[in-house]
Amino acid sequence: MSPAPPATPGAGKVPVGVLVSGRGSNLQALLDAAADPTFPAAITMVLANVPGAYALERAAAAGIATAVVPSKGVPREDFERALLHALGPVEWVCLAGFMRVLTPTFLGAFPGRVLNIHPALLPAFPGTHGARQALEGGVVQAGATVHLVDAGVDTGPILAQGTVAVHDDDTEATLAARILTLEHRLYPMALRWAAEGRITLEGRRARVALAPGESRWIVGE
Ligand code: GRF
Repeated sequence: MSPAPPATPGAGKVPVGVLVSGRGSNLQALLDAAADPTFPAAITMVLANVPGAYALERAAAAGIATAVVPSKGVPREDFERALLHALGPVEWVCLAGFMRVLTPTFLGAFPGRVLNIHPALLPAFPGTHGARQALEGGVVQAGATVHLVDAGVDTGPILAQGTVAVHDDDTEATLAARILTLEHRLYPMALRWAAEGRITLEGRRARVALAPGESRWIVGE
């Protein structure tokens, strides 16, 4: 795949980098949202730590610059410095299925400006396999969360959440698919708030200056 040249964000658009490790369906949701001329952010760089991640193909198809920054066998600090170097002049960073925990080496360059999407109603079920944990935990309501990233695992201030019912006949796959649909609605919404400068923090509690009719909570199917 030949790398696309770095995209120049349109006038007034906030440049955003996206970090991925896998299939990139959330990246696609962000790319689709950013294709709307009224969207306030432009994705200017997509970085993968896993060579061959399908998300890279999605970015290339959208004409977005991509690079692989390998993490395997690389000391964490070196990896994070390489990420920072490859990102270029972005203002916000979105983690979209990025399977590495970031440390202050990286986060210190983007204080309060790194977003993540997680397939569970945090603070319940952090880490991997949100849908599986929800089924094993026997909850009747599952969901997804967009949060600001801190140095913990899925512990940062919550920006937006969505809920879906857990059905009696759900498997991990069916529940995860329903949660994913919700994620694709939540993430562009939260990135819009970020790019429009509508997020503030009071301690660990995020505040969002909501427009009329907006909510930080979505009820999914
Ligand atoms: C999503 O479930 C996301 O919440 C989690 O990792 C998964 C990534 O999926 N952080 P995709 O690569 O965006 O399709």
